[in-house]
Amino acid sequence: MPKPRVLSGIQPTGNLHLGNYLGAIRNWVDGQEQYENFFCVVDLHAITVPHDPATLAADTYEIAAVSLACGLDLNYANLFVQSHVSAHSELAWLLNCITPLNWLQDMIQFKEKAIKQGENVSTGLLDYPVLMAADILLYQADKVPVGEDQKQHLELTRDIAARFNHQFGKKKRVLKLPDPLIRAEGARVMSLTDGTRKMSKSDPSEQSRINLLDSPDTIAKKIKRCKTDLVQGLEFGNPDRPECENLLTLYQLLSGKPKDVVAAECREMSWGTFKPLLTEATIAALQPIQDKYQAIVADKGYLESVLKQGREKAEAVANETLSQVKAALGYSVPL
Ligand code: TRP
Repeated sequence: MPKPRVLSGIQPTGNLHLGNYLGAIRNWVDGQEQYENFFCVVDLHAITVPHDPATLAADTYEIAAVSLACGLDLNYANLFVQSHVSAHSELAWLLNCITPLNWLQDMIQFKEKAIKQGENVSTGLLDYPVLMAADILLYQADKVPVGEDQKQHLELTRDIAARFNHQFGKKKRVLKLPDPLIRAEGARVMSLTDGTRKMSKSDPSEQSRINLLDSPDTIAKKIKRCKTDLVQGLEFGNPDRPECENLLTLYQLLSGKPKDVVAAECREMSWGTFKPLLTEATIAALQPIQDKYQAIVADKGYLESVLKQGREKAEAVANETLSQVKAALGYSVPL
């Protein structure tokens, strides 16, 4: 039996932090051997909001390198860049023409982002989920790892595929309907300056997050200054102590110790004793990732060759689907 195929996309945002790692990347990497994985750096999605042309390419390569450094294994995974495979844009256009406008206007993420941007909203932002549907459907993916915020987009992908098959499939299934891949809960990592807010790259304060490539010195400083509370003894599950929950969870995930072991170890600890422990665990967890990252970026040719190979494999699958879609829509095949 062939392995189920997984398609996942990650935006090239630059400056990846612990939240990206513990909440997303680590989940791809864990269990990757059970699937045939296509991992796509979605740089076409990156320009649906205002972006800086000077950093787009560098951010794209950085996230590809970080993914490899975090353990993405090329024996199981195929890593490529969305804009390198032109079938993504082309299928997005074709799907645009069968997607009702009001489906897109109803998307929660669009509404939220559109409000933030006021007058400046691009058509691309509205169309973002159709491009995402194209990403997924091109590979006839069985499963897509989704967090809460992307569930609605995956539903839409299924709706678009079903509509396409119904209208143009002539009883044949042209596009496969993907299922969500729910993995052991990705951690929600919170800000170091406010335990009720998500760690985010858009927070203006550097102190609020630990970046994957922060030096040991920087990590130590950030943890030293992070927000805590005045209670002696550390515990999970106290809703009045969001910082305590966050920092203990970080310690648990980064040290790899089971939750009950961490709970027992820290029950009577003061923050002054705990912080050095967390610092040590963080540095130790990030060190191998950073070493691997440095080795990858030191050899530019290596990353280029990984992405070239990824593109070739992706294109073979994507172009086949695209041909079937075009044939179903009635296009002529050029000589
Ligand atoms: N929208 C996804 C996010 O912001 C990124 C994405 C684009 C994606 N295309 C995808 C995720 C295809 C999964 C599958 O996280």
